[in-house]
Amino acid sequence: MKKIIYTKYGPPEVLEKVETDSPEPSAGQVLVRVGAAGINPVDYKIRNGSLRLIMPGRFPRTPGGEIAGTVEKTGRGSFAFKPGNRVFAMLRTPQGGYAQYVAVQEKLLCLIPQGLSFEEAAAIPLAGLTALQSLRDKGRIKKGMRVLVNGASGGVGSYAVQIANAYQARVTGVCSGRNVRFVQELGADVVIDYEKKDFINMGNGYDIVLDAVAKKNFTSCRKILKPGGVYISTLPSPGLLFRQALNFLSSKKAYAIICKSRAEDLAFLGRLAYEGKLKSHIEKQYSLGEVILAHQRIESGRVRGKLVLTPFPRQPEKVLIKSDR
Ligand SMILES: NC(=O)c1ccc[n+]([C@@H]2O[C@H](COP(=O)([O-])OP(=O)(O)OC[C@H]3O[C@@H](n4cnc5c(N)ncnc54)[C@H](OP(=O)(O)O)[C@@H]3O)[C@@H](O)[C@H]2O)c1
Repeated sequence: MKKIIYTKYGPPEVLEKVETDSPEPSAGQVLVRVGAAGINPVDYKIRNGSLRLIMPGRFPRTPGGEIAGTVEKTGRGSFAFKPGNRVFAMLRTPQGGYAQYVAVQEKLLCLIPQGLSFEEAAAIPLAGLTALQSLRDKGRIKKGMRVLVNGASGGVGSYAVQIANAYQARVTGVCSGRNVRFVQELGADVVIDYEKKDFINMGNGYDIVLDAVAKKNFTSCRKILKPGGVYISTLPSPGLLFRQALNFLSSKKAYAIICKSRAEDLAFLGRLAYEGKLKSHIEKQYSLGEVILAHQRIESGRVRGKLVLTPFPRQPEKVLIKSDR
């Protein structure tokens, strides 16, 4: 099979496509033929070595923390899925999603709901789970709450706006001018263009501020939170973790989210997608041979929605699934 590897930390050019044997699923694992693999900022942060202390690993490494595909075969003691099932998952490190086949722990997998393509499903896990676990577990989101999402046009932000909508919260999205219409279409009630206005000076009384792009710290956001309000950032910096430990001293809470791979949460997101409440916006699909371009793009920090890799040439039936919907 073909997969992407790198043998040292460095720029996108360290990524190379190689031919290897397919992995064998061990006990409790399932071998998945990858229809699509999601691309996330953490993939380049691991590749360039900036996370080497918290996510160490041996070389060669294969990037990719989320996949969607078809069950090819099951390992010993693995009974939950059968060959042919369409599944998606957030992988645990070491990752390995940028490959034609990947062996995945059965307990991480979830069936793809009907009507969702591999690309749409592969885009969901890391960004969607981060958004869900931030809003639901840290923010305790409820109907009628006021929620601000900074970075509403990115992977985490675009799912967060839709999840907050599904909870019937009132959502303010912050993005650049070119993405205002996109964030409105995601369902934000109010959109603030950060190139024109600073959301810190644009009203207050928020129950939740989710800084999906980690651009504004708790000290700046504190004044726009109402008493009992919650600030959540996707960057677990030492300063934020220290502030989080002091939450018991203040009614306004600060949290860093660290996303967990949970199949039951993925099933929840799958249900939202099935009901038409959660859509994946795929800015672009790349083949394995275009992986360097894909990493250059994700590293720009300007992706609208998500990027995905398709390890096999696209199948005609997938086109049928998409155009049937
Ligand atoms: N802690 C965790 O478990 C966890 C999990 C997932 C992700 N993350 C982290 O969360 C961050 C967000 O990830 P992502 O997948 O959403 O992708 P991303 O590549 O960080 O976000 C891209 C989006 O950010 C927007 N953006 C850039 N600068 C901005 C600014 N100053 N203000 C508001 N929006 C801005 C861009 O829109 P414009 O082009 O319009 O500016 C673009 O749409 C990353 O740092 C990622 O590593 C952490």
